[in-house]
Amino acid sequence: MEKKSWKESASELQRIVLPEDTNAFNSLYGGRLVEWIDNVASIVAIKHCRRRTVTGSIDSLFFLSPIRMGYIVYMSSRINFTTTSTMEIEVDVESEEGITGQRRVTTKAYLTYVAIDEEGKAISVPELILETDDDRKRFEEARIRSLGRKDLLNKIRKEIEEK
Ligand SMILES: CC(C)(COP(=O)(O)OP(=O)(O)OC[C@H]1O[C@@H](n2cnc3c(N)ncnc32)[C@H](O)[C@@H]1OP(=O)(O)O)[C@@H](O)C(=O)NCCC(=O)NCCS
Repeated sequence: MEKKSWKESASELQRIVLPEDTNAFNSLYGGRLVEWIDNVASIVAIKHCRRRTVTGSIDSLFFLSPIRMGYIVYMSSRINFTTTSTMEIEVDVESEEGITGQRRVTTKAYLTYVAIDEEGKAISVPELILETDDDRKRFEEARIRSLGRKDLLNKIRKEIEEK
């Protein structure tokens, strides 16, 4: 399978926060932001492997500042790392106050997608071309995160088996 650059799949999503997206305090509902994050990250995953993909896991998410109704939400997403069948996708979220243009970083998320065939069985994905020091740094950091996720996944599977 031919290797691919992260640039071939990098994607962006913008949304304005509407009343139906907010909680009782006129801030963006966390679940809605997770939905948007999963949406843009899944676009990156599909574009990288050109296969069916499923969300395998979402790493812990920190919401650093509230996003108010009427704010613009920018999500930029790229692939950092692959294993045989998985892809780590990063999403960086910023919010912008529409009138003043004041922009803030609000969230960073890492999601793992698994490529599957028609039967839902995991299949291989293209490796990443690592061109720059930044590409290599991201890959190495993501490799370490991936090992942690695998340990956790194995632990959870074992716990379920033993029940
Ligand atoms: C993800 C899924 C396809 C894995 O299928 P599987 O047959 O258990 O796959 P395997 O155990 O052979 O694992 C294949 C690879 O995926 C990784 N993986 C499996 N489940 C994972 C998960 N939940 N999160 C992250 N990585 C996962 C494995 O570590 C392995 O990685 P490798 O390529 O480095 O070897 C399957 O568990 C599934 O369909 N889960 C539901 C996904 C879903 O519906 N998501 C939407 C949210 S509702």
